[in-house]
Amino acid sequence: MTGFQSKVALVTGGGSGIGAAIARRLAADGASVVVTDIHLEAAQAVVDGIEAAGQIAVALQQDTADPAQSHTAVQVALDTYGALQVAVNNAGIAPVRNPVGELDIEDWKRVIDVNLSGVAYGLRYQIPALLHSGGGSIVNISSILGTNGELNAAAYVAAKHGVVGLTKAAALEYAARGIRVNAVGPGYIETPMLAGIPAEMHDAIVGMHPIGRLGTADEVADLAVYLLSDQASFITGSYHLVDGGYSAR
Ligand SMILES: NC(=O)c1ccc[n+]([C@@H]2O[C@H](COP(=O)([O-])OP(=O)(O)OC[C@H]3O[C@@H](n4cnc5c(N)ncnc54)[C@H](O)[C@@H]3O)[C@@H](O)[C@H]2O)c1
Repeated sequence: MTGFQSKVALVTGGGSGIGAAIARRLAADGASVVVTDIHLEAAQAVVDGIEAAGQIAVALQQDTADPAQSHTAVQVALDTYGALQVAVNNAGIAPVRNPVGELDIEDWKRVIDVNLSGVAYGLRYQIPALLHSGGGSIVNISSILGTNGELNAAAYVAAKHGVVGLTKAAALEYAARGIRVNAVGPGYIETPMLAGIPAEMHDAIVGMHPIGRLGTADEVADLAVYLLSDQASFITGSYHLVDGGYSAR
């Protein structure tokens, strides 16, 4: 669809769900992809599938909450493929479900570290590499909870709102220097992140999506890869929903 030939991409949390779908799509469209995940074996399984299809990728273990590992991930892209033009800050975790008055403080810290600070650390090291590579494009994975609230998910909601703000700030700073930065806001998507949700809650979540079902990781990847592509050359600093109508209510 889009043509990422001779481009190098980095996808965090690429061992599962949305990140894996984006990594596969970028590789199929010609990119050389660094697939990182806190679970190396998950990233390696995605890379094995990409390589089996005759495409190019390498796996790396990375905890995005550690800034030094964000630096290393960018360095691996530069050392392995010689450049970095595309980055997807996707890694994320679900919160412990508590009201704010009963916040689990350690859970708050971890969700903010991974879901918000992890994106900032990624940008911190990706942007200089993109500048050095002649420009490029970044997508940060937020959520419908980047603009909406939800009960018993304060850390996640705060982090995903923060990702939207961080995206706008970075986009303004680098728009004139050839780097576009956008955020994607998925509705509820059928990925392992939703595993373990009781059937009645799953049905209630489906009911929040006017389209009558949850989304797929590939439907999120379609939007993310479009935003990363040259076809989206006038799109930066914005937040794009892929939510089956959830936010239209
Ligand atoms: N599934 C949904 O309904 C949904 C909705 C909106 C937004 N999102 C967001 O989409 C992104 C991807 O979620 P998903 O649904 O594909 O979940 P997932 O659990 O299938 O995949 C997330 C991946 O991130 C990895 N990961 C977790 N912590 C990490 C860390 N500290 N460093 C590196 N990797 C780490 C996990 O090992 C996993 O492979 C997340 O940011 C999530 O918040 C998901």
